[in-house]
Amino acid sequence: MQILDGKRVSTKLKDEAQKEVTQLKSAGITPGLAVILVGDDPASHIYVNMKQKTCEDVGIYSIVHKMPDDISEEKIIETIQMMNKNPNIDGILVQLPLPPHIDEERVIGSIDPNKDVDGFHPCNVGRLSLGMDCFAPCTPLGVMRLLKEYDIELKGLDACVVGASNIVGKPMMNLILNEFATVDICHIHTKDLSSHTKRADIIFVGVGKINLITEDMVKDGAIIIDIGINKNSEGKTVGDVDFENVSKKCSYITPVPGGVGPMTIAMLINNTIKAAKKRGK
Ligand code: GUN
Repeated sequence: MQILDGKRVSTKLKDEAQKEVTQLKSAGITPGLAVILVGDDPASHIYVNMKQKTCEDVGIYSIVHKMPDDISEEKIIETIQMMNKNPNIDGILVQLPLPPHIDEERVIGSIDPNKDVDGFHPCNVGRLSLGMDCFAPCTPLGVMRLLKEYDIELKGLDACVVGASNIVGKPMMNLILNEFATVDICHIHTKDLSSHTKRADIIFVGVGKINLITEDMVKDGAIIIDIGINKNSEGKTVGDVDFENVSKKCSYITPVPGGVGPMTIAMLINNTIKAAKKRGK
């Protein structure tokens, strides 16, 4: 069994990003990222701080628009429209979730698709499903980059994606389908989850349920990608996979923490650099 070490790979990618940003700056372009953070969800604040700190580390200009919980939808959209027009901003990211009175679809839909570094705008979602060049969501994109780093080819593999969210499961499905995996996508209403996981050469799981995937649900030598983030009863960060027992049976596995998580921010940085390179084109 081999660990897919997202921490190591993301550190390497950040070093490469830093060099690329230096080159862009010498050509007169400082990549810029605007983050919109609404309300005081503690997890969102932690994620945004991590994103901002990484931007600083690699030399990307970043600005965080913090807004109160009771802000109006119009004010958020006005800010996005301002960022759409701002030539120093290449990427715009609205941290989710938004408060319940805000229409998430309208807010995401107001981002210029060329600055949509999260890949959530319907235009990028459509382009991804058509296999066109696009901004793909950072977490599944990070998984793809990690697999590439370990020379894991998806063509012809039987894959099982557990979780069908817009942020993780659906884009994961599209990315691996574009690489010619055969994909089962399972969700809360799937009748017999283990009948799908047991057949899979590779399992992707990101639903936020501790020990959802146990060793009896995994075939020998399978590849396990754990995209879940949970806190267990001892306050430790764990994924959706029973790591201790499943790791004895599989060929590769991502740990939590230190697997997919660090790759997400590395992909946000890559997407922002990609947007900056298109500046003026
Ligand atoms: N909330 C949870 N994950 C994400 C993400 O990848 N991007 C944004 N914008 N919000 C999130």
